[in-house]
Amino acid sequence: MRAEPCILNPVSELMTARLAVLISGNGSNLQALIDAIRYRALDAEIVVVASNRKDAFGLQRATKAGIPTRYHPLKPYRDAGKDRQTYDADLARLLNEYRPDWVVLAGWMHILSDVFLRHFPYRVVNLHPALPGQFPGANAVAEALAAFQAGAIKKTGAMVHLVPDEEVDAGPVIASEEVPIYPHDTVETLANRIHQTEHGLLVQALRRLIEGD
Ligand code: GRF
Repeated sequence: MRAEPCILNPVSELMTARLAVLISGNGSNLQALIDAIRYRALDAEIVVVASNRKDAFGLQRATKAGIPTRYHPLKPYRDAGKDRQTYDADLARLLNEYRPDWVVLAGWMHILSDVFLRHFPYRVVNLHPALPGQFPGANAVAEALAAFQAGAIKKTGAMVHLVPDEEVDAGPVIASEEVPIYPHDTVETLANRIHQTEHGLLVQALRRLIEGD
């Protein structure tokens, strides 16, 4: 009996986007991407997951999904008196080994300098737990809750944007979604609600970028 020839579709082969995902922690958004790709909701392949923290749970999620992982800590650079530019240049080199089409910052806690960004012009995508123009930086959820309690805002949200330069949590917005805040919220309950929104939003934003949806 003759085996059926393996027919590859060159068009879909060409379209599958190569993602490098940068994480620093839990990686629930990385998991959302892994699941979306597995269920064919996103035509992409995660070619590498890199973390600046060795104990980031997201690294275990990646390994479980059969994705290569890289650990790229800042401390050895600091200890050796090397600057952030050197760290960033090495990170870009490391990721470039995997030829990514897009670099996705999914909970990556370092600000990336132009030394890194110029390797991936308009191809770095960041996820931030606030609406465009509001609460940049690492304390967005707590700041939004405090602003709500002070009567300054009624809702917060999440956004996905391109990272063209060194400005923090700013850049062309690909997708954003509002998230309600309730009077009984704590930082934890609000963060959980934002995470639920982020998981769908990140997939939707990447689909838009990859497929022009
Ligand atoms: C997300 O809230 C993201 O917006 C922020 O860091 C968090 C990462 O969460 N930049 P996780 O590691 O994907 O669970």
